[in-house]
Amino acid sequence: MLNIALPKGRLGEKVYDMLERAGYSCDAIKENGRKLIFENPDLGVRYFWVKPSDVSIYVERGAADIGIAGKDILLEYTPDVYELLDLNIGKCRLAVAALCGFRDDGKKTLKVATKFVNVASKHYSSVSRDIDIIKLNGSIELAPILGLSDVIVDIVETGTTLKENNLEVIEDIVPVSARLIANKASFKFKTAEIEKLVDGVRSQIK
Ligand code: PRP
Repeated sequence: MLNIALPKGRLGEKVYDMLERAGYSCDAIKENGRKLIFENPDLGVRYFWVKPSDVSIYVERGAADIGIAGKDILLEYTPDVYELLDLNIGKCRLAVAALCGFRDDGKKTLKVATKFVNVASKHYSSVSRDIDIIKLNGSIELAPILGLSDVIVDIVETGTTLKENNLEVIEDIVPVSARLIANKASFKFKTAEIEKLVDGVRSQIK
């Protein structure tokens, strides 16, 4: 049985559709309900829905053989897993944003609000800029509006959230997309099954 961690939400649904088209269907998963785990014993797959930021934890620790995680999560948590495929979906970017018109004059410590503390720290240390990190868990865009921070480091997809809150990107950090990842031991012991699935999914990438 291959254990597959899917990121709960819109991205996970798109990913499941790719897996279904690749020959790994599990009809019960489409029923609306609160169930989190589904299996198709005939095809040898067991799917479970996890919080997107937890996928790499399940995979790194072997509770899942494979999973789908955003590159943002992989950059932030640097899990010890194999990154096997870029699925070319869930495309967005990690960027620095601030209130429209804000300019960093570099004179005082920059206050940075973010969920991505490691990505933000690495980015600013690469340009030797002193920062004070404020770790938030959501609605990051509020921070500069309320004076909690000077800038934010966050995901930008359509740019709508920034626009509707009078914020703008001041610097791109890195492009992001969904990646298929595998547990290292699973890859060693279930190589054939995993490679077959990877080939199937690869054929569905647009
Ligand atoms: C993410 C991100 C931005 C928004 C960007 O938030 O943190 O707020 O999406 O998308 P956009 O550019 O298309 O507007 P999410 O919905 O994950 O909620 P969060 O506030 O909990 O981070």
